Amino acid sequence: MKSVKKFLAIFLIAVMAVSVFAGCSANNKATETKATEAAKADSIDYMPLVNKTHKLPDNWEKNLNTVTMTNSIKDKVEVEKKAYDAYLKLKADLEKEDIYVDLDSARRSVKEQQRIMDDFTKEYGADYAAKTVAKPGYSEHHTGLALDLYLIIDGKDITENEDMIKYKDIWAKIHEKLADYGFILRYLDGSEHITGYGYEPWHIRYIDNVDTAKEITSKGITFEEYLGTYTGGDVTVDYKEKDLKDAVIQIKCDFAFWGDCELKSIRYAGDKAVTDKNLKWLNKVNPDGKYKEIAEFLMDFHTGENTGDTTLMSNHDYKDYQWWLAKNSDGGWDIVTKGDSASE
Ligand code: DAL
Ligand code: ZN
Repeated sequence: MKSVKKFLAIFLIAVMAVSVFAGCSANNKATETKATEAAKADSIDYMPLVNKTHKLPDNWEKNLNTVTMTNSIKDKVEVEKKAYDAYLKLKADLEKEDIYVDLDSARRSVKEQQRIMDDFTKEYGADYAAKTVAKPGYSEHHTGLALDLYLIIDGKDITENEDMIKYKDIWAKIHEKLADYGFILRYLDGSEHITGYGYEPWHIRYIDNVDTAKEITSKGITFEEYLGTYTGGDVTVDYKEKDLKDAVIQIKCDFAFWGDCELKSIRYAGDKAVTDKNLKWLNKVNPDGKYKEIAEFLMDFHTGENTGDTTLMSNHDYKDYQWWLAKNSDGGWDIVTKGDSASE
């Protein structure tokens, strides 16, 4: 599948083309954009939580100092200044171990995020887009403190998500060093029900505090858990086929921000649900899907006072809540229907 990066690259090439046309010349040095003189004395808050329910703080730009650098593929990337200085130290440290990274994307405007979201939704459907791209106004990238890295291996730029994700050992070495420079890994494998996004080994977040970054990293927790906005407990996940991992992630990302709901368990309902009758039914629910493969999952969860969804009862234990998914033509999973009595 295409990545955020590819869409971004196309956009940036277009921007650069316009710049050249306008007589601007690209240079390889980072250039600095300061906040206004009056505001310069104030610092930004380096710990804002920006996620599916916490939008970019108002007036965020007021005290923001950024630099704009040009990466190895000649894209311009804007980054908050302290985050960029810390990134350069991290990069230098990694190079001592022959690991080479560059910056793919950092600060994005709301308009740019909207364009990425529109492209993803059009290309892969709303479910895949929702677990991969933040809603405009709700992306950590708006802060300038979130950095997407890409790898350079044997002099070759590896920028596509599906290619990068294969280099597990290299990412592990990179992740080991993040906290030393005030960064955390933001979207952890297995924590999709908390972050609302699939695993992103490349998306790092600057928090300007080495001790706190070390604490978060050593505990293996998400930023949400550190800040106390996620209060749920452990979740049991049960499925056999490796192929179903993406389906589970899709469900977890969808569930992540259902009001005060606490996820308890997700399990594959078994092959008995995979019948021709159910396949026909799901193709009737979404005739555009042209599905050939389906799966049912059962979820136990507890709702609090605010369910964030009028069809759910407050303060209720839901057992065997059904999720019906089907594999789409891109190989991803669509959530076709769900409910406590979802069946034909
Ligand atoms: N890919 C991350 C979630 C973003 O779009 O902000
Ligand atoms: Zn990112």
